[in-house]
Amino acid sequence: MEGIKFNQIGVSFKGSGSYVPDQILTNEKISQKVDTSDEWIKSRTGISERRISSLGDNVTEMGYAAALSAIEMTNWDIKTIDLIVLATSTPHDLFGSAPSIQAKLGAYNAVAFDLTAACSGFLFALITASQFLKGGSFKRAIVIGADQLSSFVDWNDRRSCILFGDGAGALAIEATNDFDNFLGFDMRTDGARGSFLNLPSKDNKDSIIDNIDFLNGGFSQIQMNGQEVYKFAVREVPIILDNLFRKTNYSSDEVDWLLLHQANQRILDAVGDRLKIPREKILSNLAKYGNTSAATIPLMMDEAIRNNRIQQNDIIATSGFGAGLSWGAALIKWG
Ligand code: COA
Repeated sequence: MEGIKFNQIGVSFKGSGSYVPDQILTNEKISQKVDTSDEWIKSRTGISERRISSLGDNVTEMGYAAALSAIEMTNWDIKTIDLIVLATSTPHDLFGSAPSIQAKLGAYNAVAFDLTAACSGFLFALITASQFLKGGSFKRAIVIGADQLSSFVDWNDRRSCILFGDGAGALAIEATNDFDNFLGFDMRTDGARGSFLNLPSKDNKDSIIDNIDFLNGGFSQIQMNGQEVYKFAVREVPIILDNLFRKTNYSSDEVDWLLLHQANQRILDAVGDRLKIPREKILSNLAKYGNTSAATIPLMMDEAIRNNRIQQNDIIATSGFGAGLSWGAALIKWG
């Protein structure tokens, strides 16, 4: 795609899709592995079960399935897609999984690349793609969030292994020249607090020949300070959303849906309370999928669109947050 200047001013939301692996890991089953219980997990997190990838359910395959389903909701010719952005921290190929998705879709006119921002990844990717559309460079984009954290969870650490699951979601968005349904956004990073949640490389030293070392590739496991991450989320997410409401001249009363990164039901409820958004407007599918990292927001959005909870012209306040530390918010109108 050449990046030709079109006369565009806005973004319209045209389609959604999602995919989760078949394998279900319930709280009961996790308690056969670590010292925990269904009651503890449900009451502290709201999670009942999560999906776990098996062979064939890698990020490329899950992202492809979600993208295809989003495209099927539009009437687009696949060759008219200009841009594919895949948010993931667990690519099937470290050089990028988006190009494989582009090829599987047959979207040969699209430029495709990965973007890594952990649990904020989908939101950061949506904002990135929207800027290309609003700037007039591209017309049609697919934004995917897909993650397979089960491969990097320490399955002996009961403080973290209960939280995560695998899955993918995608949105199809299009540039418009007479209205803008992407109402505003904000993004933040604080690398100084990055040690609260990370997945570092292993740094295994080896040698090529005498006196010439190299570091073997490979990653360790998720390391998390749950209490600090919890405090970060319940403090920063209301602030960023409140500032966004001010900036866009919207009030929290005008929001039809609060769609937060699905990390913990207690975080969702605390943020809703601080913003005075009632529980019935807070979207949640944590019970079924846990925290699927970059996939949570589009996975939840797709479910709410397909069961007619989110309707045309509904206002959605969304926020992603997590490792980095990073967090962001966007205000959008569906349709
Ligand atoms: N089952 C049973 N007991 C558990 C447990 C489990 N799965 N995990 C921890 N515990 C125990 C601890 O060992 C501790 O016991 P102790 O007091 O005897 O040491 C006790 O429960 C309290 O632990 P604590 O870590 O204070 O629990 P918590 O109420 O903070 O809940 C989290 C833990 C992880 C659920 C919570 O901190 C959280 O959700 N944080 C945010 C994490 C997150 O969202 N990360 C991803 C962001 S993108």
